[in-house]
Amino acid sequence: NDPTTLFTSSGMQPLISYLLGEPHPSGNRLVDVQNCFRAVDIEEVGDNRHTTFFRMLGNWSLGDYFKSEEIPWFWEFLTKELRLPKEKLYITVFKGYENIGYDTEAEKIWKEVLTNEGLENKIFADDTNWWSRSGTPDKMPGGEPGGPDTEVYFKFDDIEHSDKCDGDDPTKCECGKFLEIANSVFMQYIKTEDGFKELPNKNVDFGAGVERLLAAAQNQSDIFQTSLFKPIIEAIEEVTGRPYKDNQREFRIIADHLRASVYLLDAKVIPSNKERGYILRRLIRRAVDNLGETNPSQLESVIQAIVEE
Ligand code: SER
Repeated sequence: NDPTTLFTSSGMQPLISYLLGEPHPSGNRLVDVQNCFRAVDIEEVGDNRHTTFFRMLGNWSLGDYFKSEEIPWFWEFLTKELRLPKEKLYITVFKGYENIGYDTEAEKIWKEVLTNEGLENKIFADDTNWWSRSGTPDKMPGGEPGGPDTEVYFKFDDIEHSDKCDGDDPTKCECGKFLEIANSVFMQYIKTEDGFKELPNKNVDFGAGVERLLAAAQNQSDIFQTSLFKPIIEAIEEVTGRPYKDNQREFRIIADHLRASVYLLDAKVIPSNKERGYILRRLIRRAVDNLGETNPSQLESVIQAIVEE
């Protein structure tokens, strides 16, 4: 019943009332997989990493564990469970805003984790390390919960930085060499007319997009070439008779938009001229516009590849 949005676009959205303090029927430690759709990213799709639809893995503490447990678990999940190479992981923490200071607590815990692993300090601070439904602290309306976050980036060696990027600092990278693969939001504040106040609970909101984790696990800097998207791209090559390497942008748009459409249809959204239905219609139209000469009636095998994913 969230009137602020047409779609669920993050893990925290369906849990807002519990983050605000209402007891959750399943307790104060949760895990989930949330289907997410970000209409705001439609125009971004076409590069190596943006998708409108993705699945977010989450773990949640509703006033239970906090930074000192969460950060070592975050690292353990990435390096032990997923076996990501630790030298490719980079960390960012919140730089501070008004009465909420630089997150020295998260930084200290990360330093301990890295030192125990024999790694040098790879922690950077940024003022965009913050999560709320409306973005950074200045953009939040009154009554909105939010908090600082810590983010982990994966470094792809095969991508060359653009001129605007700066070495090993993921906060100064725009080219996709550094990919944010997961974050933990320390959801502990609410914005009021008199500035930020503490929520009744200090919560943790861990979120990790399955598609991006897979790109890191497969060390594949092009999400559309991971084992999840490859069969979809191959089906598009087959029906169009054209190779992916010469049509990357178009094929990524087709793959992402049709995949998102399949999931929206599955969620009972019907193409129309308003609200959710309008967005679905736009996705389908953009996918078809990128097909070139190919007749959309030939897309069945592409849809099949998405359904079988
Ligand atoms: N951790 C979430 C995200 O990144 C917020 O719920 O979307």
